[in-house]
Amino acid sequence: MSRFRHHVFICENERKPDDPRGCCSAKGSADVLDRLKGAIHAKGLKKEIRINRAGCLDQCSLGVSIVVYPEGVWYGGVTVGDVDEIIGSHLLGGRPVERLRTDRKGSA
Ligand code: FES
Repeated sequence: MSRFRHHVFICENERKPDDPRGCCSAKGSADVLDRLKGAIHAKGLKKEIRINRAGCLDQCSLGVSIVVYPEGVWYGGVTVGDVDEIIGSHLLGGRPVERLRTDRKGSA
């Protein structure tokens, strides 16, 4: 059994600007992580929902990349503006945000 209700990993990998693979850091992953972590802490949920920074999740072209366990739901193209919806719909409501999912599109 999972120690947390949800365990959320956010890619914060950074590459050089000329790297053709791009990176989540250049797409604002630090801001997404700060917003997500801050909101979870403000709601008093940090013992139930763990937010962790991660290295490359191998979904670089789809960043900012996030994966949520135990469900194994992958999100891509996440911005700060998506954070409240991910929290409200998925982490609290149990309904993943379908428009941001990348695990259903067969993308890698
Ligand atoms: S740099 Fe974020 S998934 Fe690879």
